[in-house]
Amino acid sequence: MAKKLLQLFPQSSDKQELNYLYLYKHGWYSANTKQPIVAANFLSSLDGRIAISPDAQSSAELPKSLTSEEDFRLFLELHAQADCLITHGGYMRSLATQKLGNILQLPNSRDCEDLYNWRALQGLSPHPALVIASSSLDFPMHPSIKEHDQPVHIATGQQADADKIKKWQDDGYEVLITGKSDAVEGKPLIDALTEKNYKLFYLIAGPKMLHTMIDDQQLNKLYLSYSHQLLGGEFFRTKLDGPVLNSPKLELNSLFYDASDNKHGQFFSSYTCNYNINK
Ligand SMILES: NC(=O)c1ccc[n+]([C@@H]2O[C@H](COP(=O)([O-])OP(=O)(O)OC[C@H]3O[C@@H](n4cnc5c(N)ncnc54)[C@H](OP(=O)(O)O)[C@@H]3O)[C@@H](O)[C@H]2O)c1
Repeated sequence: MAKKLLQLFPQSSDKQELNYLYLYKHGWYSANTKQPIVAANFLSSLDGRIAISPDAQSSAELPKSLTSEEDFRLFLELHAQADCLITHGGYMRSLATQKLGNILQLPNSRDCEDLYNWRALQGLSPHPALVIASSSLDFPMHPSIKEHDQPVHIATGQQADADKIKKWQDDGYEVLITGKSDAVEGKPLIDALTEKNYKLFYLIAGPKMLHTMIDDQQLNKLYLSYSHQLLGGEFFRTKLDGPVLNSPKLELNSLFYDASDNKHGQFFSSYTCNYNINK
């Protein structure tokens, strides 16, 4: 796929090739970082929808029309840079019922050989470790995790059900207590994982975990893709769920435009989150 994108920021008349855009120049990987780096990626319509549902009862889903080959390639390039993925109980349930596809590992396809090779060159294992954040602690493990030998940690809060914590521990899983209620908090989570020598965290979670991370000033890099569509709909999800935030200053690092002649256009943007603006 020799796809070229127009570089809008930093302003340039050059076109950039899509492949490797988020792996090299605009990636988030840092080989010898002393500080942990947390990166997240979201895809939305121009009216801000990341998922919609037909009615109040049904769970929301990412509309197929929003997805694109280009966005997925960039998602995988970001994924390839992680030593630890942060996901959650809801995703594990959706994965088990096949409502969502498996993104716990890079796909085992020829298109991803370059990403596996890149990981090997950096000294990263073929597959990152996993953290599953959950208050309910009610989710199944996916067989692919064992098949790919991925270390797994479960994270929950102090008020989570003690019997369920014990059950996971009896099954051989480590449960990290990283919050005062039954919910995980961002800083205790990243501190606990940093102690285990993870440094490069990629959030493959939804609006609640994004809020958890920003609220505790843990998110460093945010990648936002916008498909040039207006979806409407009464029942929808947006990128963030939760109380009003003290917003970090988002510094725009890059903005690319994919004009896609016969499809919807797309913006691919990346930001650094700065938290000390009010000090
Ligand atoms: N377009 C996109 O880029 C994009 C990205 C992500 C998601 N989505 C879509 O958006 C919709 C909503 O996303 P979602 O279901 O991933 O997200 P969500 O509603 O934000 O999170 C769901 C689950 O995450 C766990 N969780 C979240 N924050 C937690 C915390 N602080 N502590 C402990 N557990 C926590 C809980 O698991 P337990 O119930 O086990 O306690 C909760 O049920 C879905 O349709 C999804 O496919 C779209």
